[in-house]
Amino acid sequence: MNDKNAKEDMDLVKTDEGLALKMGNMTVMADFGALKGRIEKNRLNGEMLIKAVGVKNIKPGIIVMDATAGLGEDSFLLAASGLSVKMYEKDPVIAKLLGDGLERAKKDPDLESIVSRMELICEDSIKAMEDKKIRPDIIYLDPMFPERSKSGLIKKKFQLLQRLESPCEDGERMLTAALGATQSKIIVKRPLKGEYISKLKPSYSIKGRAIRYDCYIKDSIKSD
Ligand SMILES: C[S@@+](CC[C@H](N)C(=O)[O-])C[C@H]1O[C@@H](n2cnc3c(N)ncnc32)[C@H](O)[C@@H]1O
Repeated sequence: MNDKNAKEDMDLVKTDEGLALKMGNMTVMADFGALKGRIEKNRLNGEMLIKAVGVKNIKPGIIVMDATAGLGEDSFLLAASGLSVKMYEKDPVIAKLLGDGLERAKKDPDLESIVSRMELICEDSIKAMEDKKIRPDIIYLDPMFPERSKSGLIKKKFQLLQRLESPCEDGERMLTAALGATQSKIIVKRPLKGEYISKLKPSYSIKGRAIRYDCYIKDSIKSD
């Protein structure tokens, strides 16, 4: 079955494994089963994103808004740590892939309780934050900025996704909306050497080999 929502040279296809986006020999689908190794207890707490959230924030009832959900991999790690995640994805094709991945994961006893904490909302998150439709404790942003799309080191899976995803040209508006909507913290995923979003210095950063997480604590952020 092909879907006219996919771009011209891509097909959204129902396969035995689930809904997949195909272009030539490249295929993308949301597959939470493939992430089981990363959520083993010893490994999950070592994930940089979980360190950026902070152990004291990981308790039942804490709500994280993933304002740029994509295929939900980061949201899944957040939910596996025990947080409730509201996932915003504005692209209808990516949202369909993500929705299908969630439905399949609900049938897997190892994943069922984790995905029960993940809610998908197919909307523009900037608008939702500006309209104060949501007041989450923590907001997570992983916008694909133009500079990232120029990298020659991107895996095949991401090459296909990048044809579909439109880069966020308006990081400043996204961060401003997030500062107005969060109750406590914003976490922004950036390339290790990328500029600060909106040139705003974070409260602190957690750095890895290729990426870093800039953490903004509400009420301690000052613009220069
Ligand atoms: C780099 S991907 C995120 C990948 C994700 N962190 C993961 O783990 O799979 C960025 C996603 O954000 C979405 N996006 C960008 N701006 C958005 C907005 N204003 N509202 C909702 N989704 C947005 C894009 O369509 C894209 O799917």
